[in-house]
Amino acid sequence: MPTVRFHFENKEFEVGAHANLMRVAKANQIPVYEGVHQWLNCLGSGLCSTCVIEVLDGMDNLTPRTRIEEMQLDGYSRTLRLACQTEIVKGSATIITRPKIESCPKG
Ligand code: FES
Repeated sequence: MPTVRFHFENKEFEVGAHANLMRVAKANQIPVYEGVHQWLNCLGSGLCSTCVIEVLDGMDNLTPRTRIEEMQLDGYSRTLRLACQTEIVKGSATIITRPKIESCPKG
């Protein structure tokens, strides 16, 4: 059974295959958004980029970046994902919610 670890919260959860990381976080009261974005966001459609997470390990156990992630995260580290667009398929993954992100190198 796949396992999602939330690094700074020091919590891990066994989930079903293809569990959405946003839903896993919300179901377990792990905050994903900064500040007002907990109310002002795109509700998981991949348009606002306020649900960015960083994958510390287990990237190969997640679904590949979607086209919308490729557009929204273009120029940023490949370790960043949108929680609402990412599912865990197998194994385990360790993630950081609300990571500190350097400005985009593309400007
Ligand atoms: S909630 Fe808007 S991109 Fe994920």
